[in-house]
Amino acid sequence: MRTLNIAHRGASSLAPENTTAAFNQAVEVGADGIEFDVHLSKDNVPVVLHDESLERTTTGRGAVKDCTFTELKKLDAGSWFAPQFSGEEIPALDEVLAKYKSSSLIFNVELKNDITFYPGLEEAVLQCISKHEIENRVIISSFNHDSLVACRKLNPAVRTGMLYLEDIKEPWHYALSIGCYSVHPLFFYLQSAEILSGFKAHKLPLYPWTVNNPEQMKILNTEGVEAIITDYPRILKKILDHN
Ligand code: G3P
Ligand code: MG
Repeated sequence: MRTLNIAHRGASSLAPENTTAAFNQAVEVGADGIEFDVHLSKDNVPVVLHDESLERTTTGRGAVKDCTFTELKKLDAGSWFAPQFSGEEIPALDEVLAKYKSSSLIFNVELKNDITFYPGLEEAVLQCISKHEIENRVIISSFNHDSLVACRKLNPAVRTGMLYLEDIKEPWHYALSIGCYSVHPLFFYLQSAEILSGFKAHKLPLYPWTVNNPEQMKILNTEGVEAIITDYPRILKKILDHN
């Protein structure tokens, strides 16, 4: 099977991460999927942005969890990246799924609940996925593995992916024990032949991130990983097309 090209936070090298502009760019350059990060607003709406706090990528201040959806919607999530993106909003998960479900994109929904705990995040996200009937195009990933287990319990039809950024010994045993479909390691930890063959032997699809170096993309493609998560989907597309 051909390696999938997943645009990290959308095509975040070309447009402000986790905005419609970045997701449109991902479609434009021919990515197979988008990865994006989800938090919960004060009034329990799943919203798409990376950080727990608003300062880096929006005109707001403070924590996402302390703002209502209406307050978050008033913020500019694009001008920090470049002036022509001013007016980009923080998307709701619902908006993203509604807008792109008619495309062929795969959705890697990352629950950002490893630093801030959001009671009800799993339920709210799964409800949204079911509403749009796209269970078979979604992988929910998280650094919070309890949350992945909870998602599997709530809806066994949705696949989960174990995110990690440590040097874990024989991580396939652990990934299987928590019911994950796929494993999403920091790409740095996929460099040894033993690790790669261990995952292969246990039939666990790999989704390494964030692979921005073309040489690394080529190596991982040759290794036959299921997907590569990158800020540069246009570059990755060229590599995958010439293989
Ligand atoms: O899902 C892969 C990657 O997005 C995890 O790290 O910090 O970019 O969300 P981060
Ligand atoms: Mg992420």
